[in-house]
Amino acid sequence: MTEMHATADDREPKTDANSDAGSTRSTVVTPPPGPHGLPLVDSTLAFARAPLEFLASMREYGDVARYEAFGREFVVVSDPGLVEEVTVGRDDEFWRGEFEHEFSELLDVEGLFFAEGERWRQQRLLLQNAFTPARIESYADDMVEETVRLVENWSDGEVVAVREAMSTLTLRALTRTLFDLEFGDGRADRVRRWVDAMGAYSDNEFFGTRAVLPTWLPSRAKREYRRATTDIASLVEDLVAERRRSDAEGDDLLSVLATGEYPDGSRPTAEEITDQLQLFLLAGHETTATALTYACWLLAAADAEDVRSRLEREVDSVCGDRDPTFADLPDLAVTEAVGREAMRLYPPLPFLQREPHEETALAGYRIGSGTTVQLNMYGIHRDERWWSEPDAFRPDRWLADDENGRFVVADPDDRPEYAYFPFGGGSRHCIGMRFAMTELTLSLATLARRVDLERVTESIDPTPKVSLDPGPVKMRVRRR
Ligand code: HEM
Repeated sequence: MTEMHATADDREPKTDANSDAGSTRSTVVTPPPGPHGLPLVDSTLAFARAPLEFLASMREYGDVARYEAFGREFVVVSDPGLVEEVTVGRDDEFWRGEFEHEFSELLDVEGLFFAEGERWRQQRLLLQNAFTPARIESYADDMVEETVRLVENWSDGEVVAVREAMSTLTLRALTRTLFDLEFGDGRADRVRRWVDAMGAYSDNEFFGTRAVLPTWLPSRAKREYRRATTDIASLVEDLVAERRRSDAEGDDLLSVLATGEYPDGSRPTAEEITDQLQLFLLAGHETTATALTYACWLLAAADAEDVRSRLEREVDSVCGDRDPTFADLPDLAVTEAVGREAMRLYPPLPFLQREPHEETALAGYRIGSGTTVQLNMYGIHRDERWWSEPDAFRPDRWLADDENGRFVVADPDDRPEYAYFPFGGGSRHCIGMRFAMTELTLSLATLARRVDLERVTESIDPTPKVSLDPGPVKMRVRRR
């Protein structure tokens, strides 16, 4: 292992005499501190082998730290105020950046997530019609029904692969709500094969020893991913053709795309429709499935008995002998707190990336153009400066009593807003945030009413892939 040490000198940004001491954009003469003098390949391999641990190790150099890997410069930001500055206050100075776009090209995924400038704005304004509060409310029953359908197929004592089960659930809920389509097992399997192949391929290219090899080298993972991508493109074409053949004039996402107009009066091209559908098939189910998997896993810990019984008491008293509905959400505070706490410990997208349009400064350090700024969400969510017992699963940290003695979700501790940002922030925050929180809470409540899940897999190994992949998670079903 290569040693990386900060010197006291490294930690102090040097600004010139004319700089404005209160601004983090002050004139700067130093780059951020970081591991100096390492051959490029060392940081690349260290990041590739264990990205979360590598980003955590950069805290040694301070809240803004620099390293080089993959032939480019990175700056890791581990301070909530600076995350807010980059994503909200100064978001016009930053874009997703070349590194993210290389990833998008490699994986051949485009759409809203990767669009920039005016094109992005037009797309976001059109697509957000499918995510209004009224639309989300109209999706809630389908989310619950899909969860019931999943659980009803489980028998008492059966061991289930939770990660796969949750992605089938969220995929079916997504296609039923946003595409107004029933997705049979065959189609759900095709999407899962695509996501798995994407995970294997990105893992292969970015993590492990291949990270230092040229990406044009052939590999089995690449061939399999290409095959899966061709298959998913043809699935998406079928979906659009089916919608156009039916006279449905819904306001679901598929209809908005197939029949809607951008605010500037133009219409999505065939290619844009395909890109968006592909992106939403991925972004709309994978992250929520990940959050649900970690929530189930954390709830089943031996020392989480109190949390489990509090959750069950809440669900039983709110729902009685029926399944939860959208109207129950304000009363499902413990359930929501479980979902929030799971995403604090295991944020599905554990770091976000930005690049300045031109050279700028942050916290008094120079950020060169072409530098990838990594917002260290995983590290900030577990930082002892903002969280007591940061590694402990404690949903109660999100709960307070209201004046009637009822639990409400609150963040009572005095901490910076961006100490918790699982859905990002600013104009590029997650468009599906409300959708995801509704699904997470209602699905967890529906599961808690019907089953307990016991751990069969003893330990997990969270690794950033398409999202923060826990690896295999087998659990035994106990019907309540
Ligand atoms: C627990 C579930 C989810 C989590 C944790 C999550 C997280 C995020 C985060 C952190 C971002 C911002 C990325 C950045 O700023 O670089 C984002 C963006 C996005 N998310 Fe989500 N997401 C979730 C669910 C969903 C759902 C359900 C959908 C769609 C139905 C969705 C669609 C998108 C899209 C399209 C973007 C890009 C928005 C833009 O750039 O304008 N996400 N998500």
